[in-house]
Amino acid sequence: MASSLFVSLTISLLPILLFQAATGEAPAPAELPRSELAAIFRVMGDLLGDPTWAELHPRPCTDTPWPGLQCELAPDDSRRLRATRLHFGPDVSAPPCRPGARLAAPAILGLPHLRTLSLFGCFVGRPVELPPALFTNTSSLEQLVLKSNPGLTGRIPATLSNLRTSLQVLSLSQNGFRGEIPRELGGLAALQQLDLSYNNLTGQIPEEIGGMTRLTILDLSWNGIEGGVPGALGSMRMLQKADLSYNRFVGQVPPEIGSLKELVFLDLSHNGLAGPLPATLSGLSKLQYLLLQDNPIGTAVPAVVGSLRGLQVLGLSGCNLTGPIGPFFAALGGLMALSLDRNRLDGPIPASLGALPHLGQLNLSQNRLAGEIALPREFVARLGRRLDVRGNDELCVGRGLRASFLGAPPPCVAGGGGPGNVNGTSSALEDEGSGCRGYGVVGGLGGLLCHLVVLLMLVLDL
Ligand SMILES: *[C@@H]1O[C@H](CO)[C@@H](O)[C@H](O)[C@H]1NC(C)=O
Ligand SMILES: *[C@@H]1O[C@H](CO)[C@@H](O)[C@H](O)[C@H]1NC(C)=O
Ligand SMILES: *[C@@H]1O[C@H](CO)[C@@H](O)[C@H](O)[C@H]1NC(C)=O
Ligand SMILES: *[C@@H]1O[C@H](CO)[C@@H](O)[C@H](O)[C@H]1NC(C)=O
Ligand SMILES: *[C@@H]1O[C@H](CO)[C@@H](O)[C@H](O)[C@H]1NC(C)=O
Repeated sequence: MASSLFVSLTISLLPILLFQAATGEAPAPAELPRSELAAIFRVMGDLLGDPTWAELHPRPCTDTPWPGLQCELAPDDSRRLRATRLHFGPDVSAPPCRPGARLAAPAILGLPHLRTLSLFGCFVGRPVELPPALFTNTSSLEQLVLKSNPGLTGRIPATLSNLRTSLQVLSLSQNGFRGEIPRELGGLAALQQLDLSYNNLTGQIPEEIGGMTRLTILDLSWNGIEGGVPGALGSMRMLQKADLSYNRFVGQVPPEIGSLKELVFLDLSHNGLAGPLPATLSGLSKLQYLLLQDNPIGTAVPAVVGSLRGLQVLGLSGCNLTGPIGPFFAALGGLMALSLDRNRLDGPIPASLGALPHLGQLNLSQNRLAGEIALPREFVARLGRRLDVRGNDELCVGRGLRASFLGAPPPCVAGGGGPGNVNGTSSALEDEGSGCRGYGVVGGLGGLLCHLVVLLMLVLDL
């Protein structure tokens, strides 16, 4: 107990001792081993166009620091430093990487204690590939972040799987990687974040990916990935964010997705996924974002969404949905945005939508909705232009509400049964129609009776 306290105290005092050393008091200052210093100079030479870097930074961990390099004391030797983090990006190097910049394995392997390697916007010109030899089982890499390097092409090296015990973050977003996701990556059992978005990846997701059981973030969006969404994703029990949008996935959403109890964000939009959605999705009790827009789901509005009580944003635009909007949304008290545009929905707009206290965005445009819009006046006023009902030819609106709508639907003639007569010959009837508005808000029998009376007057030509 006492000795472990002593050790931790000593470790926390080390930086102070180091500082004293630098100001001329004993003991000797900690140094980077020669081999690591040489490796740093090689890596810098490979990446930067600036030949004077080594002259300007002869002791890059201590007296002549460079912001992109971080060094730490070796835990077992207070006179030794280690290079632990190397970061290149617009924030630390200007000008950035030289035109022919490359990542050479021997130089990188000379930094065995490197835990973070991140290069932003480094390889922009001539295509370069990641040498498979970069990743060996002696590496300490915990975070590999190579982002916005359009010149970085070729395949994602399968040798990344050699980092199975260390790698926690793998982010290769916005590069030019091609080909398939190597199945070997499934062996990265310590991985917590995988971001391969915005590349040119093709082929199918390998089933082995289910081996990444500690993953919390999975982003494969904006690629050309095909085939089915693998059920193996269901074994990523810690997953909080899954983004598979803008790919070419087909088939159905596998029922295993319903076991992702921690999932907060699920984006499957812009794919070729068909319905029906599995009932197991009701298990996603923490889900806040469900984005399915632009998939040929082709069913009725999926009842399962009604059980996702945590939902805040639901995107079902362009899903080829049919039938009425249905009662399911009334249960989603936290809903802030609902998009149902570009479907084939018919029937009325349920008044219950207007009772959702947090709903601030509602797009119902380009459907076949019909009848009088029975949304409360306060609701219509609150949403303003964020309420879109355009492109529903059979919708009409009570006169008092009309002006507040985007693309003002026609006024109801009477009874809310169809589009209004815009010839102006029925102003009396319109007045009668608006006389029903008070009921329209509340809905129910009173409104129905009022509309019946107006209809009767119309028929009897009173
Ligand atoms: C690392 O790889 C080498 C050669 O590929 C192998 O001989 C060695 O057993 C591996 N070490 C571990 C710890 O996996
Ligand atoms: C990668 O995809 C982008 C857009 O998806 C495209 O513009 C580019 O030509 C593709 N590159 C290659 C090398 O296929
Ligand atoms: C929409 O669904 C219908 C069947 O309900 C189908 O015939 C049609 O091809 C689908 N449209 C699209 C764009 O998927
Ligand atoms: C509603 O959806 C339509 C069709 O997708 C789109 O054109 C329109 O901009 C959306 N309206 C709003 C207010 O976002
Ligand atoms: C207005 O009334 C005339 C004749 O009664 C009819 O021909 C015309 O189609 C009507 N216009 C509209 C927009 O309903």
